[in-house]
Amino acid sequence: MSETPPVSPEIDALLQEHRVFPPSEAFRAQAAVNDPEVYARAAADPEAFWEGFARELEWMRPWTRVLEWTPPDAKWFTGGTLNASVNCVDRHARSARRNKAALIWEGEPGDRRTLTYFDLFRQVSQFANVLKSLGVTKGDRVALYLPLIPELAIAMLACARIGAVHSVVFGGFSAESLRDRINDSQCRLLVTADGGFRRGHVVALKQVADEAVADTPSIETVIVVQRGQQDIPVVMKDGRDRWYHDLMREASHDCPPEEMDAEDMLYILYTSGTTGKPKGIVHTTGGYLVGTYATAKWVFDLKEDDVYWCTADIGWVTGHSYVVYGPLANGATVVMYEGAPDWPEKDRFWEIVERHGVTIFYTAPTAIRAFMRWGTDWPRRRDLSSLRLLGSVGEPINPEAWIWYHLHIGAERCPIVDTWWQTETGGMMITPLPGLTATKPGSATHTFPGISAEILNDAGEPVPVGGGLLALTKPWPAMLRGIYGDRDRFIKQYFSRWPGGIYFTGDGAKRDEEGYFWLLGRVDDVINVAGHRLGTMEVESALVDHPHVAEAAVVGRSHEIKGQAIAAFVTVKEGVAISEALGEELKKHVAHKIGAIARPDDIIFAADLPKTRSGKIMRRLLRDIAEGKAIGDTTTLADPAVVARLKEQYLAIEG
Ligand code: PRX
Repeated sequence: MSETPPVSPEIDALLQEHRVFPPSEAFRAQAAVNDPEVYARAAADPEAFWEGFARELEWMRPWTRVLEWTPPDAKWFTGGTLNASVNCVDRHARSARRNKAALIWEGEPGDRRTLTYFDLFRQVSQFANVLKSLGVTKGDRVALYLPLIPELAIAMLACARIGAVHSVVFGGFSAESLRDRINDSQCRLLVTADGGFRRGHVVALKQVADEAVADTPSIETVIVVQRGQQDIPVVMKDGRDRWYHDLMREASHDCPPEEMDAEDMLYILYTSGTTGKPKGIVHTTGGYLVGTYATAKWVFDLKEDDVYWCTADIGWVTGHSYVVYGPLANGATVVMYEGAPDWPEKDRFWEIVERHGVTIFYTAPTAIRAFMRWGTDWPRRRDLSSLRLLGSVGEPINPEAWIWYHLHIGAERCPIVDTWWQTETGGMMITPLPGLTATKPGSATHTFPGISAEILNDAGEPVPVGGGLLALTKPWPAMLRGIYGDRDRFIKQYFSRWPGGIYFTGDGAKRDEEGYFWLLGRVDDVINVAGHRLGTMEVESALVDHPHVAEAAVVGRSHEIKGQAIAAFVTVKEGVAISEALGEELKKHVAHKIGAIARPDDIIFAADLPKTRSGKIMRRLLRDIAEGKAIGDTTTLADPAVVARLKEQYLAIEG
């Protein structure tokens, strides 16, 4: 846990990066924020700074205090009441934005729908009434397991409208993953769909949901959205399963919003940690909405006529904060696309940008690296001149990918905002402000105004220039309020490394002489595969669940496109024959247990795993082997010959 961040050749190169890109005069002049004073003003009085954004939202009752901070517990805007769906929908539907497009949606097969703010208002209210009619009340948990279709945003906002807590589970997760998440938070109702589309194939979500729900006693009702024209076979269980369209047909459009305390729970979102069990990150209403509203407004420089597209799936936090809550709270037009970037061709994203005149585009480095590999012809054949701002999120972006994005997508005209944050932080924490910040490729630059971050060493001493662990030293409105049902883990994971309510991010980082932050990746047992966060222990548990596996150790290794790939070292039970087929079977087993995103890239069968004399697996050695690095000191090893054997085996499969 307390290892200093590994310095790979890529990171070394990153730290040699000296190019600087100030915003163009044209961009700066029109930007909402172009006065550097904002930083000093926010730092002098962060509470007043956040309060300014809170005032731009609609409250039912004003707050009496901005912040009550009893580490590790923060309460923001106490005494205030509001409703998130009113802020994301009603207030725009009541205004001149009534007929403005809220969601421009495109399915992978090419089907399209546009919902205005007024449409969204009516459908959210209707679905809120559906939930109510099925007995869902304030505080109940509702699981959402859907493809990227408008109904997912509608269902989230409908939950928020009646005070139910949504728990969105990414549609690529397995039945078991869905089951565990439903059971952990005891959801009463599940909303799913007959299926979704990915690279031309139907993903049969209802079938997976059926398997999950066979073992979730808390679920009373399953609502099924019919995804499209294609007939996807579905078995409806009497007394439990209801069609979304049948229920909606009968529901009234009038649903008065529930008055929510600023600290009432808005949602739970599960994310991977350092144990085998994902944790339910809890976000509350007022602070989260203020945080996502403020960061979406300033970092994306949102204007009334922008067409904004964040390519993330809503199943991840990026989708929660920057497909749904942040942009809709701002009354923006949001593009949603269901499928893969290379379907039917490798210019699908650029075709969408061209067709809808997208002005702001936010994606992950793993996608940018794939675009690089596919070549510049694909974007070149499309008109991307509507773009004015580009964003990156989810993992460190290497300077090559940054420059490629800048040249070939941004045409050297669009500022790039590389935004660092986490499921736990709710919103962006370290990011440029596009009209203000001179960016450096590979650096997320500076904290958002009002946010305090530092690099600390293990002893908790600040490292003003140099590398160490990234810490957040003051509370912020959108911060997590806990891990659902696990207070101890919340304290232990985030607030026990250093005293005084300092939050430990799990990331290594470096600060340069000019105060820029450079994120170096996780320092714990969390890996980031194609922008997806995974716990190595989760994958290990899935592997040892297989009857032939005795022991497993999983590490991340660098990967040209995905950032990191999963390497699994496995020992088999006595009498089991090792074969390529078994390796394939194990990969399939993990994909089935967790979801395709967790499928290991390499399985290395080992006679033994390197252990210390006290029996602890030496993961760092395994990482070095997987990275093909020279192995240093192995004196603590029980059997040093194990390492030599493993290296040989690894080289053999790498071929
Ligand atoms: O390691 C950091 C990396 O993603 C982790 C958070 O993952 P998750 O909770 O799934 O949220 C992803 C979307 C916000 C962080 O601990 N990370 C995220 N953004 C960046 C990043 N690493 C470097 N640069 C970023 N811009």
